[in-house]
Amino acid sequence: MPSDAQTIEAPAQTRLSEPLKTIPGPPVRFRDLVSFLAFGSPRDLLSFYMDTARQYGDIVHFGRGSYSSYFVVHPDYVKHVLQDKVRNYPKKNRFNDMLKPLTGEGLLTSDGEVWRRSRRLSQPAFHRQRLAGFATNMTEATQAMLARWAPLAERGQALDVSREMQRVTLSIVGRALFSTDIGTDSDEMGRAVTRIFEHFNHRFRHPLSWPESVPTPRNRRFHTAIATIDSVSYRLIAEHRQADTDSGDLLSMLIAARDEETGQGLNDRQIRDEVGTFLGAGHETTAVTLAWVWYLLSKHPYVERQVEAEVDAVLGGRTPTVEDIPRLSYTRMVIQETLRLYPPAWGMSRGIAGDDTIDGYPIPAGALMVLSPYVTHRHPAFWDNPEGFEPERFTPERVAERPRYAYFPFGGGPRQCIGNEFALMEAQLIIAMVVQRYRLQLVPGQHIEPDPIFTLRPSSGVQVTLHAR
Ligand code: HEM
Repeated sequence: MPSDAQTIEAPAQTRLSEPLKTIPGPPVRFRDLVSFLAFGSPRDLLSFYMDTARQYGDIVHFGRGSYSSYFVVHPDYVKHVLQDKVRNYPKKNRFNDMLKPLTGEGLLTSDGEVWRRSRRLSQPAFHRQRLAGFATNMTEATQAMLARWAPLAERGQALDVSREMQRVTLSIVGRALFSTDIGTDSDEMGRAVTRIFEHFNHRFRHPLSWPESVPTPRNRRFHTAIATIDSVSYRLIAEHRQADTDSGDLLSMLIAARDEETGQGLNDRQIRDEVGTFLGAGHETTAVTLAWVWYLLSKHPYVERQVEAEVDAVLGGRTPTVEDIPRLSYTRMVIQETLRLYPPAWGMSRGIAGDDTIDGYPIPAGALMVLSPYVTHRHPAFWDNPEGFEPERFTPERVAERPRYAYFPFGGGPRQCIGNEFALMEAQLIIAMVVQRYRLQLVPGQHIEPDPIFTLRPSSGVQVTLHAR
């Protein structure tokens, strides 16, 4: 079957009576270009997208030449790119390529038939019954974190809950993948993943930094971290193959997976790329979401009390299980609203394979297509009081009133996040277990803003103190 990039549907025909519309956008200023290329100006980048949408509307063109970009904001246009004409908007683009040393030709960064096979083989691992098996990993990792917190709480010592969420989610994805905990500071795999993310964030901030082929100290550290992922992954793959038993983890499932159409399994390189993909895609995003949940709850005591009331009523002090997930519905709405305000994947990009039109606007092949959940999630036509934190927006009735793509923290269409249910369940379980024990209070005097690097992390962490309930 031809790849996505090759099977381009014909551009939607516009009737002769409707001339193509001109896409508005800011003029190119030389100093903006230099500043963006040299310094990245990440904080400015977020306001750049917000201001651009406010000023120019639902579709915007900016940049010229190889930086020519189309930014779509309206839910219908987002749907066009992610769902209706998905084949015309492949993943292949310069931001996607940045991730490839970690994710290779795995699910997140491949296209065409390679992606389709990978999705077919990975999907069963995320079915509801399989997910239930991961719930115990999640509660065990959270229990270990709470045990680490106990002496700090007694001493009234502050901790960075953003970093703690990175540790616990890394531990959970490690347990889900390999049945072992890689989330501890001493673990080489955990350290390697953290270093790789630091590197991606640096490159995002400094697009003109030395290419990875130049042996600067930073690049050498990055290559060492990638070599660690390679060697540990290949060792674990070999051990799992040799043991030849299903240990219930993702690695066993990937090894056992056979393509229904061809009967073929994955080779070691393909499995290594999926391991890198799940390590990368499966922890940072959930950690960032949880860091913002704690920030928002401590800023909104009324919401915090409702979460506590729900957790107490549903669990009555016992450890949550997968059966409790549907009953922790308010907690889930809090997570959804957090993902609206601070979507970790705040911007997404696509290539443009062939000329197209969106609602009569011409979209030429070769440019970059940009989407931003952060901006669309604040679209005033679909969200009242867009900056307000209101979990009730996510009651089923109110969700049904909005267009599907007014909200897309997990993307959409065939490339929608495969781990969305995993992530929501994980966040519900962690929140419930923390809330059972503690109320988190922000250390005063912090100035916390979203930092639009690779993901939307809270700038300089979230320092909190723990107060026993
Ligand atoms: C709150 C947590 C998460 C958020 C916000 C999130 C967000 C996203 C988004 C926006 C995409 C689509 C990217 C695009 O279209 O360019 C995506 C894809 C993906 N995510 Fe997640 N994700 C989360 C958690 C997870 C978890 C826990 C896993 C795995 C255990 C995971 C694995 C993946 C994979 C493999 C893909 C690629 C899917 C494909 O292209 O077929 N994600 N995620």
